[in-house]
Amino acid sequence: MIQAMMNAKIGDDVFGEDPTINELERMCADMFGMESGLFCPSGTMTNQIAIKCHTQPGDEVICDESAHVYQYEGGGIAFNSSASVKLLYGDRGRMDAGQVKAAINPDDNHKAHTSLVCLENTSNRGGGSCYDFTEIKKIKQVCIDNNLSLHLDGARLWNALIAKNETPKQYGQTFDSISICLSKGLGCPVGSVLIGKSDLVKKARRIRKVFGGGMRQAGFLAAAGIYALHNNIERLKKDHEHAKQIGEAIAGSPMTKYVLPIETNIIIFETVDSLNASEVLEKLKQKDILCSATAIDRVRFVVHLDITEEMVRKTIEIIKAI
Ligand SMILES: Cc1ncc(COP(=O)(O)O)c(C=O)c1O
Repeated sequence: MIQAMMNAKIGDDVFGEDPTINELERMCADMFGMESGLFCPSGTMTNQIAIKCHTQPGDEVICDESAHVYQYEGGGIAFNSSASVKLLYGDRGRMDAGQVKAAINPDDNHKAHTSLVCLENTSNRGGGSCYDFTEIKKIKQVCIDNNLSLHLDGARLWNALIAKNETPKQYGQTFDSISICLSKGLGCPVGSVLIGKSDLVKKARRIRKVFGGGMRQAGFLAAAGIYALHNNIERLKKDHEHAKQIGEAIAGSPMTKYVLPIETNIIIFETVDSLNASEVLEKLKQKDILCSATAIDRVRFVVHLDITEEMVRKTIEIIKAI
């Protein structure tokens, strides 16, 4: 990847003249069968730009209570788009079509105008859970029937595609916009791409400029993305196996109340009442294992391409000894 970055041909992307960024954007759009793509520094930016594109001030966005766009983007929906949010309580981050339908506001002056539904696949706070594609299709139908846009936060969509044996084109045909991250399991230092129809991406390019996300000779970063798309998708299976192995050890540990089902590369478990998450984090940090807390009693592990088999083996040994 570093070699590919060093050899990248570059130009000024604010003028649309960086050949490597143009290639990455084209490649992502083609993979998903969508018209156009926009390279951005982060998944937060691609999500926030998409939300701004799909809404007007005063509109309402429907998403799950655990969604990254709501929980971890600094209140960006309110700040950037002046939109309100209707939170739904889905199953490990996944809403169903019935819930979405019931959450749409009636055409009534008292109510905010519902204009957008945001899904997240895989769901981060849901422990890497994957949507069932048939449910996504049902949600899409609700959006069509009610004139709503449908955005996907696909920061870890690659993991879902591998775990569920789905294709990018299925998603490209269904969503109005998709944010895909290159910097998570694919191992790039930075970068996300927003894909959608050409007119949406044209609007998104203007908003990226307003958000300060227009980059100049950033082809070095796009080269990492192209390398990752060619080389690092299939290997995600390995991360999923590693997550299951670590999850089994955690499930058998006295520190654990229960582990959320492990579908991809994230492991979330709840600690027993006598132990809180920060104590677990501290014990593991002393052994050079870094993880995070998602609640006072919830610990989250993520595996990725820099976590080797040897590291997984050692982690399991350490967990068993706690
Ligand atoms: C589901 C999800 N969406 C979006 C993002 C944002 O990505 P970034 O860190 O590149 O802003 C993250 C980051 O962890 C994420 O987990």
